[in-house]
Amino acid sequence: MNIKAVIFDLDGVILSTDNFHYLSWKKMADREGIYFDREINERLRGVSRMASLDILLEKSEREYSNVEKEKLAEYKNDEYRASLKDLSPDDIFPGVNDFITFLQEKGIKIAIGSSSKNTKFILAQVGLTDQFEGAVSDGTNIIKSKPDPEVFLKAADMVGIPPAECLVIEDADAGIEAGKAAGMITLGVGPAAKHPDADYAALDVSSFDRTLIEA
Ligand code: BG6
Ligand code: MG
Repeated sequence: MNIKAVIFDLDGVILSTDNFHYLSWKKMADREGIYFDREINERLRGVSRMASLDILLEKSEREYSNVEKEKLAEYKNDEYRASLKDLSPDDIFPGVNDFITFLQEKGIKIAIGSSSKNTKFILAQVGLTDQFEGAVSDGTNIIKSKPDPEVFLKAADMVGIPPAECLVIEDADAGIEAGKAAGMITLGVGPAAKHPDADYAALDVSSFDRTLIEA
């Protein structure tokens, strides 16, 4: 694998915010009387906030106007942000910091490619802001959500590396599809390790065989 940049998805790759997302969507759904469970929550992995809300509203008995939807999304996000306040560097998955150091020593650029509009807040909470300075492509600078390749193409552009020389690390099926649509090499971790289009698969970042990387 001849790569010059690694683009990390955030949620599910660098740390887990799954449960925080689940609990805050659940609170919103319960308040509205809409059925929601962890299985439905799995479908929200890698999907933008408003697209996630549309999936959740499939179980609703009535239609919601755009203004109402904005309010629901805002409520969920306020709950979610409040739950992130205790995040700390200890929440970074084992082996991630070490892998970042390994890449930097090899002269491989690193970037973030996440659908989340809370990316910069989360990076600050876990002490990774400086590592990804100037290389954060997230829900705030894209129009199209994964599986569209936009978020990764923008990340590649930020670090000045052609897509074909970028490795995307993703835990979501939509993210693997976005990485392939961008013309990048993909590593599926967690649930995305099973995706047929993932070029490489590993349980998590720490168990990925680094000897596959040359620079
Ligand atoms: C992705 C998560 O990283 O961000 C999704 O996997 C989430 O579950 C999406 O819906 C949007 O997050 P946010 O923070 O902008 O609401
Ligand atoms: Mg993810």
